[in-house]
Amino acid sequence: MSDPYSDRGNKDVSIANPKGMGSAQPIQKSGAVEPAAGGPFLIGENMTGGYGKGPDILHDCTISVDEGEIAVIVGPNGAGKSTGMKAVFGMLDLREGRVKLDSEDITALSPQDRVAKGMGFVPQTSNIFTSMTVEENLEMGAFIRRDDFRDTMTQVYDLFPILKEKRFQAAGELSGGQRQQVAVGRALMTRPKVLMLDEPTAGVSPIVMDELFDRIIEVARTGIPILMVEQNARQALEIADKGYVLVQGRNAYTGSGKELLADPEVRKSFLGG
Ligand SMILES: Nc1ncnc2c1ncn2[C@@H]1O[C@H](COP(=O)(O)OP(=O)(O)O)[C@@H](O)[C@H]1O
Ligand SMILES: [Mg+2]
Repeated sequence: MSDPYSDRGNKDVSIANPKGMGSAQPIQKSGAVEPAAGGPFLIGENMTGGYGKGPDILHDCTISVDEGEIAVIVGPNGAGKSTGMKAVFGMLDLREGRVKLDSEDITALSPQDRVAKGMGFVPQTSNIFTSMTVEENLEMGAFIRRDDFRDTMTQVYDLFPILKEKRFQAAGELSGGQRQQVAVGRALMTRPKVLMLDEPTAGVSPIVMDELFDRIIEVARTGIPILMVEQNARQALEIADKGYVLVQGRNAYTGSGKELLADPEVRKSFLGG
């Protein structure tokens, strides 16, 4: 792959949250998500748009994450979860809505400029350079930095010890779970202020999934808010401070992870009962 952000296609422990979210509610007027006082740290607000001149995929869709939070987006295949993440990262032109980072409107910025502002994004597909070594992947992650990034690399290796062991191996030779660690590690190399992960546990075993979730919680505890899409809805909502259920490009349910897990409608339709 040449540009990690060029993929517009799609082949396809809880962190304490002092601010309660109220009860999980079906969104009547979609996008009516209650912001925290002072506004969420990162928000894609009332986003409407699609790919190129194609039809709208997102319809007044709002997703956000607050400082100190893990926010999780779940929903059926094709619901627009990845599209929502790409919209927040600046990979599609919104017809309506805006993206704000730390109260600044960044709707007009390119993905590269958003990285410079502190966004880290791990896309669902093509998220590592398979022919490069693990260490080269991490170095590529630091591409926007002019300073010495060795300390950050040490931190990434502390977080993912297996990557240190395999640092001179081609990333393509690693297992699925290890590749995802490379992808997350690469995003961390920019020292992001917020991390966006699209299905970080795709295609890994349940044990590896649990390990990855533990690492993600660890990252969140270092003070990096995390906005992530997950197909393992139940497990993801268990670690989520806030959850979004998207259906057909719209907010269907929003609440704390606990509230969504307890909601009979959400359980029946999205969590297998
Ligand atoms: N590059 C693209 N060009 C046109 N349509 C796309 C593209 N990527 C995804 N879509 C369409 O957008 C819709 C939502 O897809 P996606 O955001 O990938 O869903 P999810 O991540 O929830 O499974 C689907 O109908 C899909 O076919
Ligand atoms: Mg997706």
